[in-house]
Amino acid sequence: MKGIVLAGGMGTRLYPITIAVSKQLLPVYNKPMIYYPIATLMELGIRDILIITNPKDLPLFETLLGDGDKYGCSFQYIIQDKPRGIADAFIVAEEFIAKDSVALILGDNIFHGNGLSDINIDKLENNSGLIFAYRVNNPNRYGVVEFDADGNAISIEEKPKNPKSQYAVPGIYFYSNNVINIAKSIEPSDRGELEITDVNNHYLKAGKLKVQTLDEGTAWLDTGTFSSLMQAGQFVQVLEERQGIRIGSLEDAAYKKGYINIEQYNKLISK
Ligand code: DAU
Repeated sequence: MKGIVLAGGMGTRLYPITIAVSKQLLPVYNKPMIYYPIATLMELGIRDILIITNPKDLPLFETLLGDGDKYGCSFQYIIQDKPRGIADAFIVAEEFIAKDSVALILGDNIFHGNGLSDINIDKLENNSGLIFAYRVNNPNRYGVVEFDADGNAISIEEKPKNPKSQYAVPGIYFYSNNVINIAKSIEPSDRGELEITDVNNHYLKAGKLKVQTLDEGTAWLDTGTFSSLMQAGQFVQVLEERQGIRIGSLEDAAYKKGYINIEQYNKLISK
């Protein structure tokens, strides 16, 4: 499975801090924001990763992350010239995805905990999608899943005024290769974007979407507003200081997964 980190966009909700620099390069406590989603993909066993950025910031991402070799991974970069929507990622990344299945993670989403670790990415059914549902206080900021009495997903709505549940769809998605054609087939929404929610509804209608609830012990944070950016930094600080762990560390993820050996690890962290 290939991995994509979507790290373009204008970050207008965070102006003026994102006027000169991409949101995903801002610090979340002690690391650049983009470390966290990349580490999540690496921890899932995904080593072949494409980073989608806006034209202006691509060289900065390259300076920060390089070709991934030092982490035992491959990082490639591609430009999305305009923020045409999250689903546009599959069109921009068509050549990179080639014939494989693909995981997409948003560059401003942070996950921590065991909720994602039991996913067997090799077991994704043909022509299907796997997404998650996470209970939040303010679902109207997100894609929202509605479940029937048996716990089956029956609808997904993007930022509904009157959400049909408290369950938001976090920014990590797994799809078979047919997602490329599905992304090409959908129309832009009223806000002029190719919506990931429309891709998910496409799979849902075909009976090919699995929606897995992330348990309460898993943390999902996004960093789209001043307040949530601050909270994400505080969350990382509290856990790292209290538990003596590192969250979103590319070095730790690479070593834990056996992508690099102890000598390579020591060399990396000595910097
Ligand atoms: O955070 C999860 C939510 O992300 C989902 O629940 C929603 O269904 C989904 O639409 C999305 O909602 P947002 O409106 O919060 O997404 P936003 O426009 O902030 O974009 C998320 C990230 O993707 C952000 O880091 C910028 C990047 N992006 C976004 C667009 C639309 C791109 O790189 N290119 C784009 O064209």
